[in-house]
Amino acid sequence: MRTSRSLRARLTALVTGAATAAAAALLTLGAAPAQAAGTPLRDLAAAKGKVMGTAVTGSKLTGTYGEIASREFNALTPGNAMKWGSVEPTRGNFDWAEADRIVTFAEAHGQQLRGHTLVWHSQNPSWLTNGSWTSAELGQLMKDHIALEVGRYKGRLATWDVVNEPFNEDGTYRQTLWYNGLGADYIAQALTAARAADPSAKLYINDYNVEGVNAKSTALYNLVKSLKERGVPIDGVGLQAHLILGQVPSTMQQNIQRFADLGVDVAITELDIRMQLPADSAKLTRQAADYKAVMNACLAVSRCVGVTVWGFTDSDSWIPDTFPGQGAATPYDENYAPKPAYHAIAEALGGTTTPPPTGACTATYSVTSQWNTGFTGQVRIACSGAALSSWKVGWTFGAGQRITQAWNAGCTQSGAAVTCSNASYNGTVPDGGSVTFGFNGSWSGSNPVPTVSLG
Ligand code: XIL
Repeated sequence: MRTSRSLRARLTALVTGAATAAAAALLTLGAAPAQAAGTPLRDLAAAKGKVMGTAVTGSKLTGTYGEIASREFNALTPGNAMKWGSVEPTRGNFDWAEADRIVTFAEAHGQQLRGHTLVWHSQNPSWLTNGSWTSAELGQLMKDHIALEVGRYKGRLATWDVVNEPFNEDGTYRQTLWYNGLGADYIAQALTAARAADPSAKLYINDYNVEGVNAKSTALYNLVKSLKERGVPIDGVGLQAHLILGQVPSTMQQNIQRFADLGVDVAITELDIRMQLPADSAKLTRQAADYKAVMNACLAVSRCVGVTVWGFTDSDSWIPDTFPGQGAATPYDENYAPKPAYHAIAEALGGTTTPPPTGACTATYSVTSQWNTGFTGQVRIACSGAALSSWKVGWTFGAGQRITQAWNAGCTQSGAAVTCSNASYNGTVPDGGSVTFGFNGSWSGSNPVPTVSLG
């Protein structure tokens, strides 16, 4: 059974002094990891009047994933849930469950929503792509789809990516179902239909490889200019920013500025920065600099409304599936630990604290699943620039939770206080390595994440 209770995030305890194998010093510092940088990204962004968003998967919005999504971001984009193939898999049969879940979650957490996406060549239902339609039928299908989906969420979404990826790399129009059937005017028709369905939503055209000044972004620029001249409703341009490590275009700020000068907003809509796997500390450091460069390019232009990452954790990124051998593209690793990129984003947004010192072991508590009376949790102990030969982790439950069973550690609970020590076989945590232990527990009322200390 699913619970709608808001879950609190896992916290990490930093042990800053444990620099040698023997030094399992009894330090009990209780810093929060994603908050090692202090203020959540959404608060830093809000102080600057900017969006800091993430794409999300609706079915995952619980436990640690839900906690980070709500704590760190002031805007959500459904990664797939609002695409035509998701909402109308067979003609006339609609499935809004995942989209609705994301909208409800965002509203519960005071987050903006970015609708994504109405008119695209990809992830359309097969009944649509396999049909043979006259131009009039196709135009009607498109307008009806927009009226229905935009209308469903009228007044609730801040923004819509109305048209997605209309251009080829050389700046010519992409030959799609829509272009081939309706001509280039499909774009104006789609925008006009979206405006009619929700006059308050900001309407965007969104594309990739348009972050710097190049043939494709110039084609997009010329399109937006002509739409504005014709009085077609267009409020903004989305630069997806699926970038490659070390390749942030040097003309990004200049490019954002030229769109702003046309009188439209600009958003970085799908930022990720991929690298060849495996990741290492040099690549992650480079990635942090790249993230900061993108943030700074947006922050330098007042009409750049903000940045959305395409998934906040490497465990929920499209990159490994789409670009084999590449990954580690997001600000959090697969275990929800913030990477240097996270700290770089925070710093760009004016966060004051610095990343965790090198030479530290950290303990990260997370709830991996939860049901009406029980939950499964884990603690991951990871070392970087330090190592441990034995370990002991402690925390105090805040809401009456009880450990019922543990594995890969010996755990005892006395009152609310829990202490877990390594098993005979997993006391060693080498530099660059990690150890994870798990447990089942019971809860009722709420299941807040405790502050964990590593000693
Ligand atoms: C991606 C999703 O993240 C994947 O889960 C899906 O399999 C394919 O689409 N540009 C876009 C996004 O506008 O909608 C795409 O999202 C990534 C590229």
